Amino acid sequence: MKPPVRIAVTGAAGQIGYSLLFRIAAGEMLGRDQPIILQLLDIPQSLPSLKGVLMELEDCAFPLLTGVTTTDDPRSAFRDAGIAMLVGARPRSKGMERRDLLEANGVIFSTQGRALDEAACRDVKVLVVGNPANTNAYIAMKNAPGLNPGNFSAMMRLDHNRALSQVAAKIGRPVSSIRKMIVWGNHSPTQYPDLNHAEADDGKVRDLVNDPEWVENYFIPHMQNRGTEVIAARGLSSAASAANAAIGHVRDWVFGTREDDWVSMGIPSDGSYGIPEGVMYGFPVTCSGSAYQLVPALEISEFDRTKMDITYRELMEERESVKHLLLNS
Ligand code: NAD
Ligand code: LMR
Repeated sequence: MKPPVRIAVTGAAGQIGYSLLFRIAAGEMLGRDQPIILQLLDIPQSLPSLKGVLMELEDCAFPLLTGVTTTDDPRSAFRDAGIAMLVGARPRSKGMERRDLLEANGVIFSTQGRALDEAACRDVKVLVVGNPANTNAYIAMKNAPGLNPGNFSAMMRLDHNRALSQVAAKIGRPVSSIRKMIVWGNHSPTQYPDLNHAEADDGKVRDLVNDPEWVENYFIPHMQNRGTEVIAARGLSSAASAANAAIGHVRDWVFGTREDDWVSMGIPSDGSYGIPEGVMYGFPVTCSGSAYQLVPALEISEFDRTKMDITYRELMEERESVKHLLLNS
């Protein structure tokens, strides 16, 4: 029997938490032979409902779940964690812009960055889901000087999955046949979903779509606003699809991406594609050996450049507005 992996999940009493924890405990993220311990964090007001979630986890009798702790102390939640999924934050509601969340949620991630630095495994894999995800991941990374910046990532996988699904429907192919989608930049309405490098089993997606007007005026804006559309329809922000994306993000980071494919992850830039080093930007990556590699040297058109720069500039604005939360800046 393998030793258990400690997985910290913040905001565990929330709606994403409710879609996430049971799938992790069933083995969908780290495999059906990997025992796990869940270390669940929420704020004091949410601990009573977290107790209910704990009861339900117990009632499932998951064979892989060798322990569960609940706490409102980030250091306890992150103690010896090998994986930290930072979901807890206030979500956007109808009419709210993402930047409204910056200040409120940024403070959470500076505290949690420090706690990760103090308590987590040195090779902890950190996924930030709570919005604004890229800037929150950046804040956490900057508050954890003892951890490698490469341990930190922001979730672009929901955007990536959304783009796969829309393209598959457009060209009438199964989702599994589409490879090499990219969502560049920020998890926000400035993101740039880019199908120019995508392939289906029988050709380049761009050629199969063969409709530049659809790409520019339907696909890109609809992907950029999909989160808002879900909020308008549900009255709540996406949860099951976000949890699904979080599981896919961690699973691929740990076990590797499929052959001849890549995924989109928000990671600190290494300076590639003209994005300055350190910016927490959505890039195409391949994963193997429990590490990611940025996909190098893709051809970037003038159109791509313009879109990639817009989302980069938004990240710079977000960073400017939270600079008081960053260590050493
Ligand atoms: P929710 O309101 O249902 O749950 C949030 C939970 O976080 C609550 O239980 C709350 O008590 C907890 N929380 C608040 N502050 C906390 C803190 N300091 N420490 C620990 N827990 C804290 O929200 P949700 O629908 O689960 O969404 C969570 C976050 O994920 C939101 O910020 C939302 O915008 C974001 N989100 C991101 C993506 C993405 O693709 N990156 C997709 C969907 C949602
Ligand atoms: C989403 O993409 O569904 C979430 O990030 C919700 C939001 O606030 O856009």
